[in-house]
Amino acid sequence: MTELTANSNTLSTDTPFTQTSQSLDTFAPRILKWFDTNGRHDLPWQQHKTDTPNPYIVWLSEVMLQQTQVTTVIPYFARFMTSFPTVQDLANADWDTVAEHWAGLGYYARARNLHKGAKQLVAVIDETGDFPQTVAGWEAISGVGLSTAGAIVAMGLHGYGVICDGNVKRVMTRWAGIDGDIMKSATTKELWALAERLTPSNDSGHFAQAMMDMGATLCTRRNPQCELCPVSADCIAHAQGRETDYPVKAKKKPKPSRFSNALLMQNDSGEILWLQRPDSGIWGGLWVLPLQFEQKTQGKTVLTTAQDDDVYESEFTTAEQIINEWLAKNKLTAQSVSNSLLDDAPIKHSLTHFHWYLQPQQLTLSAEQAQALTKALQAADINVVWSSSDDARANLGLPKAMIKVLESV
Ligand code: ADE
Repeated sequence: MTELTANSNTLSTDTPFTQTSQSLDTFAPRILKWFDTNGRHDLPWQQHKTDTPNPYIVWLSEVMLQQTQVTTVIPYFARFMTSFPTVQDLANADWDTVAEHWAGLGYYARARNLHKGAKQLVAVIDETGDFPQTVAGWEAISGVGLSTAGAIVAMGLHGYGVICDGNVKRVMTRWAGIDGDIMKSATTKELWALAERLTPSNDSGHFAQAMMDMGATLCTRRNPQCELCPVSADCIAHAQGRETDYPVKAKKKPKPSRFSNALLMQNDSGEILWLQRPDSGIWGGLWVLPLQFEQKTQGKTVLTTAQDDDVYESEFTTAEQIINEWLAKNKLTAQSVSNSLLDDAPIKHSLTHFHWYLQPQQLTLSAEQAQALTKALQAADINVVWSSSDDARANLGLPKAMIKVLESV
């Protein structure tokens, strides 16, 4: 067999990978040894020290951790575990309670999937007597992708599971010098093949934890600590001195912006009108203030025309149309809280597909007006509540953007 230098960036002749068999074979032992003394062993959802792991805990935490950092997730996870200690508790909870527990974590589709997933899991348990036992079984649960399914089987069942999430991809693209765009399917395939090659057959749970810790604490995006890294000796990016050039990700188009007024409509008791969003679409099932989408203009140029905008079409609800028509009919206009132009809207909230600029507007209604508006909305089957700012924050599932609006006035 040809002897290859470990740091060679040419395709190895003894494996289909850019690393030698020896490097590939010794990767996991090196990572696991590092994890023993340097990894995180006290995260509340970790199950690697228990002989009887709880897949519910791992599933719940993995869904929460999909787009959110560990420090943010910890208190949310604790609250979920207190209120819903078992998957049956979560499945039986009503949506508003789940939404209220989730409020502030963002990416609400995850919360809806979590609730739906809990019901699916209970159905599996009722039928088979236990949680799904395979990666395919977990992947069938709403909100669980291939990597999450691998993590649950590896860490929550102590079975064999492979993970290939963002952290793992960063570690592997650097170590193996993989410079394809990680958003492309060819690169994804290459990375999964490498993840499978590197994952030890009898210790995949520890390895998954260890790789997450490597990515989160050592092989970080901006400041990798290569001097402490157990695999730096044969890391191709390190040999090139180009650690932060990996992973390669094609530049995304900048996100478009949307502008809207957030109406704080108060009744004569100072309570604010809240509307429940339809189940589908952004903030599905959560409680929000009525929104008025605005045209954004700069000089005489219309930059965003709300009406012919797809996002507007999908986000502007029947409730908001009713409110707009009702305001016009009653010759009511909302007062800007500040006089700032929409361009300087005080609240900027970033969602997956766009930045949302929100301008709070206040409007006080008489008792009769509030009643008439409530009637008009309820006649269209819209869920409506009048609730003080404090009560809404305590008892309704509000998206983070609405909390920002309440805090701005
Ligand atoms: N990110 C995703 N899953 C994680 C886990 N189990 N622990 C820490 N960070 C994670």
